[in-house]
Amino acid sequence: MLLSSLLVLYALGGVARNVAECMSKLGTKPYMISAVGLDMAGNLLLEQWKSAELSTEGIQRHQDIETAVVCNIFDGKGELAAAVASVDAIEKFLTPEWVWKFSWKIRSSPVLMVDANLSSPTLEAACQLAAESKTPVWFEPVSVAKSKRIASVAKYVSFASPNEDELIAMANALSSADVFSPIKREDIHIKLSVRSLFQMLRPAIQVLLEKGIKVIVVTLGSDGVFLCSSEKHEFDSLNFRDVKSHSFSRQLYEIVNSSCHRNGILNVTRSKGSFYALHFPALSASVVRLTGAGDCLVGGTIASLCAGLDVMQSVAVGIASAKAAVEADSNVPAKHCLTNIADDARLAYFGARPVFCPSTL
Ligand SMILES: Nc1ncnc2c1ncn2[C@@H]1O[C@H](COP(=O)(O)OP(=O)(O)OP(=O)(O)O)[C@@H](O)[C@H]1O
Ligand SMILES: *[C@@H]1O[C@H](CO)[C@@H](O)[C@H](O)[C@H]1NC(C)=O
Ligand SMILES: *[C@@H]1O[C@H](CO)[C@@H](O)[C@H](O)[C@H]1NC(C)=O
Ligand SMILES: *[C@@H]1O[C@H](CO)[C@@H](O)[C@H](O)[C@H]1NC(C)=O
Repeated sequence: MLLSSLLVLYALGGVARNVAECMSKLGTKPYMISAVGLDMAGNLLLEQWKSAELSTEGIQRHQDIETAVVCNIFDGKGELAAAVASVDAIEKFLTPEWVWKFSWKIRSSPVLMVDANLSSPTLEAACQLAAESKTPVWFEPVSVAKSKRIASVAKYVSFASPNEDELIAMANALSSADVFSPIKREDIHIKLSVRSLFQMLRPAIQVLLEKGIKVIVVTLGSDGVFLCSSEKHEFDSLNFRDVKSHSFSRQLYEIVNSSCHRNGILNVTRSKGSFYALHFPALSASVVRLTGAGDCLVGGTIASLCAGLDVMQSVAVGIASAKAAVEADSNVPAKHCLTNIADDARLAYFGARPVFCPSTL
């Protein structure tokens, strides 16, 4: 009993760790770069990675670390995606020097996922390595406070996955002043329509796109996701290198590609000086526990991109795994059933609609 609560509450938390666990359950092998202590939580964490047949060589162990979290990179048969995360307690161990040791890994990965719990110097070092080798960077903001760290790395970032509040905080960090205020949904007694929600968030999204972030996935809880880009082709393009060579996620690719396929073009347009946006409604779910939904959304999306699916298909899988997460009592469901994920991804994919703004905005 004691052990299992420790496992759930302590060792198995952590944004990047959840993302990585979700990815591994979808057939992708994440490579973690992190630091843990020589304590029980650290042992549990490492045991769990080893039993999932994931590499632990990027995880530094040190007696002065009190295990709190992890930082990770993802990997396929020695070469897949990458991710990084940390916590205050280990910030001093997860240094740029430690990350540099794995530069070969970052260079050969299809994606580097960084979570904003990394210290700014480490975040910058990881992103710079990725940029030098054109490895796309996915920035997961973690919290409103940490999301401001986008300011020093925005120029390296291709994908970002903020919720509404993190989006506003990131836009403020990237502007010269705090020009955006959070949407206080609890003060609005009528339910906001998707369109008015989009209008409220649009200026902040625009700031992130102007800073060069290519694809923004804004999570909206039970209202789903906005997928935004300055370039229409980002929605159905394949951004990741070597994707087809990774047979482990071929099953995911095949099952989702065969069910999520559009005949004809998607009618997505943009108003002048604006960007392209799609709204994906959330899937209806029997909610057990909401934590982990955002992490599984990111994990499902990245695993799918690594499998060679396009951005729209991948976000659809992300929404399907987020649904599975809210229906499970752990952060990441114990097991992902590929057929259920594919059926749900299909619903999400065909539920997506372009969102427009009156051109006066
Ligand atoms: N009640 C719900 N029913 C169905 N799907 C949901 C529900 N809540 C969240 N989701 C799904 O999970 C996704 C992510 O949720 P949310 O926007 O709350 O992320 P987050 O703020 O990053 O959350 P977290 O704290 O879980 O990391 C949503 O885009 C949606 O697809
Ligand atoms: C990240 O930082 C926050 C504090 O801002 C902390 O609560 C959390 O546990 C940290 N670790 C994770 C989960 O990445
Ligand atoms: C993906 O699906 C489409 C439509 O079913 C098909 O035309 C295409 O060949 C598939 N791609 C691969 C690589 O299987
Ligand atoms: C695309 O959407 C716009 C805006 O809703 C609409 O005016 C236009 O007729 C649509 N075009 C097609 C081909 O459906």
